[in-house]
Amino acid sequence: MRLNNKTAVVTGAAGGIGQAIIQKLLTEGARVVAADLSADALKVFQDIPADKLVTFAVDVTDFKQVEAMVKHAADTFGQLDIMINNAGIGLAKPLLDHDPVGDFDPVTNVNQKGVYHGIVAAGRQFRDQGTKGVIMNTSSVYAQMAAEMTFTYNVSKAAVDMMTKCAALEFAPIGVRVCAIAPGRVDTPMLRQYEALGLWEHIRKEQMRNTFTQPSEIADVVAFLVSDEANCINGCTVNASDGFENFKYPLLG
Ligand code: NAI
Repeated sequence: MRLNNKTAVVTGAAGGIGQAIIQKLLTEGARVVAADLSADALKVFQDIPADKLVTFAVDVTDFKQVEAMVKHAADTFGQLDIMINNAGIGLAKPLLDHDPVGDFDPVTNVNQKGVYHGIVAAGRQFRDQGTKGVIMNTSSVYAQMAAEMTFTYNVSKAAVDMMTKCAALEFAPIGVRVCAIAPGRVDTPMLRQYEALGLWEHIRKEQMRNTFTQPSEIADVVAFLVSDEANCINGCTVNASDGFENFKYPLLG
């Protein structure tokens, strides 16, 4: 098992991609702190033994809570090895309809500041432990593409890519790798918002394979990236997107 006895923190744990990452990390031998907004949402993990997984209610927009989450992981399992900053939210709204007072901060605070908090808290923990570590951020191919309706989301994910590069540079001397993964369209509650808009079939046909990426497929890539097999991958964003960013759709009408 690639992650035997490694301790990982995963934020956004109760969501589609977070749950899949946790399942995969557990099968690879890791011990996990599953963190999400509410204790209620975290009940999905209640059947997993406490020597394998503990839960932690956190709002990643609050640095003190993120710091406490990291400390909880080290106190519970001995040390932190892997930090996965995965929590994220979206906003689908044309830019001209934005409320500039209320629409920018919520997305930015979770997607950008939340990842920043995780990077700093985990980096300090690795430095204080004197151990190597890996920080993995969930970005999106929307960081690399313009898209209608998702202005704040794309901007926040572009920030994730740059934070990944800068943190990798600063943390390399203490033996810490920092990478990001960029999914395209993954079948999770976040993507299912398109169903309510009546756009599900439309966006499915835009996919090269005519189907969405499964959360477990993202989890497989993440498990590799946080393992020692990926030691030479650092300071970059790895696209795991079914090639979504490379094509103007629909492909054949
Ligand atoms: P999801 O909506 O299923 O899960 C997101 C989780 O984050 C939820 O459980 C939610 O409670 C949690 N969360 C939200 N705000 C939080 C906060 N302030 N503190 C702690 N937890 C918070 O979404 P999904 O699809 O699993 O998304 C996971 C990550 O993947 C996000 O960063 C998202 O932007 C990214 N992503 C998703 C794609 C998709 O097509 N589903 C595509 C590209 C990126």
